[in-house]
Amino acid sequence: MLKNDQLDQWDRENFFHPSTHLAQHARGESPTRVIKTASGVYIEDRDGTRLLDAFAGLYCVNVGYGRQEIAEAIADQARELAYYHSYVGHGTEASITLSKMILDRAPKNMSKVYFGLGGSDANETNIKLIWYYNNILGRPQKKKIISRWRGYHGSGLVTGSLTGLELFHRKFDLPIDQVLHTEAPYYYRRANQDQSEAEFVAHCVAELEALIEREGADTIAAFIGEPVLGTGGIVPPPAGYWPAIQAVLKANDILLVADEVVTGFGRLGTMFGSDHYGIEPDIITIAKGLTSAYAPLSGSIIGDRVWSVLERGTDENGPIGHGWTYSAHPIGAAAGVANLQLLDDLNLVANAGETGAYLNASMAEALAAHPNVGDVRGEGMLCAVEFVKDRDGRVFFDAADKIGPQISAKLLEQDKIIARAMPQGDILGFAPPFCLTREEADRVVAGTLRAVTAVLG
Ligand SMILES: Cc1ncc(COP(=O)(O)O)c(C=O)c1O
Repeated sequence: MLKNDQLDQWDRENFFHPSTHLAQHARGESPTRVIKTASGVYIEDRDGTRLLDAFAGLYCVNVGYGRQEIAEAIADQARELAYYHSYVGHGTEASITLSKMILDRAPKNMSKVYFGLGGSDANETNIKLIWYYNNILGRPQKKKIISRWRGYHGSGLVTGSLTGLELFHRKFDLPIDQVLHTEAPYYYRRANQDQSEAEFVAHCVAELEALIEREGADTIAAFIGEPVLGTGGIVPPPAGYWPAIQAVLKANDILLVADEVVTGFGRLGTMFGSDHYGIEPDIITIAKGLTSAYAPLSGSIIGDRVWSVLERGTDENGPIGHGWTYSAHPIGAAAGVANLQLLDDLNLVANAGETGAYLNASMAEALAAHPNVGDVRGEGMLCAVEFVKDRDGRVFFDAADKIGPQISAKLLEQDKIIARAMPQGDILGFAPPFCLTREEADRVVAGTLRAVTAVLG
């Protein structure tokens, strides 16, 4: 194809980019990067620059780029049947097969999968179903949802409210009233630095209990959390956090939604983050890794306890009044089937655990001694480095200094490696495709050290 030299201009004139400084972009102050092709862990822009994508797009291209098996499955599906809806009992071979494959891999006590398109709409579905559930149970006042500060659950009206990041609320009139936030399980940023990890967990639990006490357990429907905080800073929970939180939820008859949009299908080295931490959710949110982003598809895995009430609800009220035109879209479903098959065939979940552990250990070894590195942390194929002005006093940089974005820009410029400057705090995040090799992990670590040294000395 001939190179279109107007693309840059068309982009600025016509394209509304998500999560972008709109004014700067329109003025041409931030670059337009047009991605053209990709293979394995590498993407290539239309100028021929090859970049090692150590964030797998938005931590979603888990099996790596350029997988012909998935492309073929999508093409075959489009040729045979591009679309049919899934309302009133309709399905396709792909959507029915995929729901079986998901349930076969899911934690115990899960009953059915509802399919959507992305993580945000899946969480919107979850909250609607939870409200319906409590109405059927005759508890119309039990509707509030507890989320954590720094949680990320999407950017819709309810899900943007559940998200506990300031940028996603400011000027949008969010959060809505039914959403409450509690302490993030973020040990490094604990207010009381004298606390041990166990004391900090006890503090998180006490905060949750106090919130439930203040609001009344009879007004609280559910608690939502990511097994590992993702966009809020890539923060694995302190030991014992999930069992302690679950005990409080059980005691107060509060449902648990595990948002596994990032952790589902292998990112922690186990099929689900819930398996990894012994979480027993009532609903699980899935998206990204379900198709490795080869096609948009998400899901809500509904546990037995909720499912039986939904069935009862339809006996009492008629068909469930919820659905999207593109629920269980056959092309997404075909991509999902091929993707889950590939995860198994190439043993990629185990690789995420093993190479991820290697990446985390190497990153800690190379960077932990740097005076501006406060924390190196991760789990499976998730890793983060947090930068501070003064390590001993744990003094954070001023957000206006943009240290995280400066380091990620330097890493890109010097070594052609993509890491993500996480949106709140000076945190560099890594979430590579699961097919990352040790040599590629070494490149990522060496490049990161060079970038940190270039920016901070
Ligand atoms: C944990 C989690 N939940 C939900 C979402 C929202 O998914 P989407 O962007 O597909 O709407 C994300 C996106 O990053 C996520 O990380």
